[in-house]
Amino acid sequence: MTLSTDILTTPTPAARLLAQGRLVAFPTETVYGLGGNALSDAAVAAIYAAKGRPRFNPLIIHLADIAQISRFAHLTDAAAILAQAFWPGPLTLVLPLAADHGLSPLVTAGLDTVAVRIPDLPLARDLLRLTDLPIAAPSANPSGRVSPTTAQHVLDGLSGKIDAVLDGGPCGVGLESTIVGFDPVPTLLRPGGLPTQAIERALGYPLALPDTGAKITAPGQLTSHYAPLGTVRLNAQSARPGETLLGFGAVKADLNLSPGGDLAQAAANLFRHLRTLDAQGARKIAVSPIPDTGLGQAINDRLRRAAAPRG
Ligand code: TXA
Ligand code: MG
Repeated sequence: MTLSTDILTTPTPAARLLAQGRLVAFPTETVYGLGGNALSDAAVAAIYAAKGRPRFNPLIIHLADIAQISRFAHLTDAAAILAQAFWPGPLTLVLPLAADHGLSPLVTAGLDTVAVRIPDLPLARDLLRLTDLPIAAPSANPSGRVSPTTAQHVLDGLSGKIDAVLDGGPCGVGLESTIVGFDPVPTLLRPGGLPTQAIERALGYPLALPDTGAKITAPGQLTSHYAPLGTVRLNAQSARPGETLLGFGAVKADLNLSPGGDLAQAAANLFRHLRTLDAQGARKIAVSPIPDTGLGQAINDRLRRAAAPRG
């Protein structure tokens, strides 16, 4: 179905559309999300259809306020520590579902857990407060492609497939949220916009790593996620003939994530630069080494997926 996709700049009409079961992309501090009413099977089914996303890959619900959680999920002890320390913010917690949660089973892909996030961007929180609904929102990109960090990126991938995009300018963090599960101990399911070191400091002990290969539902485990169109070679000291160099730090590069070697700046630029390389028709992309500390861990995770063999 082809729709005309409206560009909105205020949350009120966006909230009205969401309440009507329509799809609205909206900004958060991490990336733009493709929002729909998480209580509605039809709205959630439309999210999967617009993205071309496999239905076994569950969605994050977004709430305005921590007080709303208990209706949908149980905050276990360790989860409550992280919620207290980092919400609102770029953190998603995978929690046991509450009884009578009312969420569409499509949101959780039939699991007995639900991923929950309270974003920090004021425009996102205004929108969520106005709807007073749990809003299911994956990143607002066609499945398998790079996440959007501007309203224009959303339109480039989903124009005509969603009702509207709420334009809040570029996303400040630029990488998806960090995802932590608790089955049975606090576990890093996806590195992201909140550095793991900060989480481990709040907990007082290290996060476990997921049992790879165990569950197909582990987030972002599909090969060739976050992919640009060109091939990607990592840890390149310089470009080989025919390659375009995506630099980091003081190197002579075609595009640089952060000439000064700042990881927060590199995170904010990563997806935009990958899109620019696509637009320039770069077929072979070489990427400078990036330190694997702080936000560098999430940047390297996304780059490794971008470099993975295409499925
Ligand atoms: O920053 C973000 O997290 C953005 C913004 C819009 O909030 N959202 C986002 O959603 O990145 P998405 O759908 O692209 O990634 C969510 C990940 C998926 O890899 C999914 O497998 C995982 O979360 N996930 C969702 N529910 C889960 C659950 N119950 N158990 C394990 N993983 C889950
Ligand atoms: Mg995504």
